[in-house]
Amino acid sequence: MGLLGSETFNSLDDLFLHELEDIYDAENRLVKALPKMRDAATEPRLREAFDEHLRETEHQIERLDIVFKTLDKKPERDTCEAMKGLISEGQDMIDAKGDDHAKDAALIAAAQRVEHYEMAAYGTAHNLALRLGNQEAANQLKATLDEEKSADAKLNEIAESYVNTAAA
Ligand SMILES: [Fe+2]
Repeated sequence: MGLLGSETFNSLDDLFLHELEDIYDAENRLVKALPKMRDAATEPRLREAFDEHLRETEHQIERLDIVFKTLDKKPERDTCEAMKGLISEGQDMIDAKGDDHAKDAALIAAAQRVEHYEMAAYGTAHNLALRLGNQEAANQLKATLDEEKSADAKLNEIAESYVNTAAA
């Protein structure tokens, strides 16, 4: 939700549209941030994970386009202050100096915060779509929710199997 102006929610439809516009903004910001995360990472598997999630994120934006279409709405962005903040924290990790492994662990920490935020956002949006009886939207949102969960699990696995032990 933007800092200026307040929303009006007269129905769950209004809320659903708002949630979609917020996520749409968040994903578009993330598409710009992920290549920088990848370039800052050292561990090849981590770089590959960022690359893979960049491709997934581009596809997730296309899924949101489909969801907007089910509502007969043009995709619009409503500034996601939370994602702005998470990306700004990610930028701090990108700019950080020091040990490569510790830095990779820092990048993972920032990326997992993003994934958890997205899991919350898509979980809510998916529930709203179901409540509103919009099965097509629910299917699209569920597909992305599952992708965010596996991206998070993959980051966890990389952190546990390599980065954290190497940095310890
Ligand atoms: Fe996403």
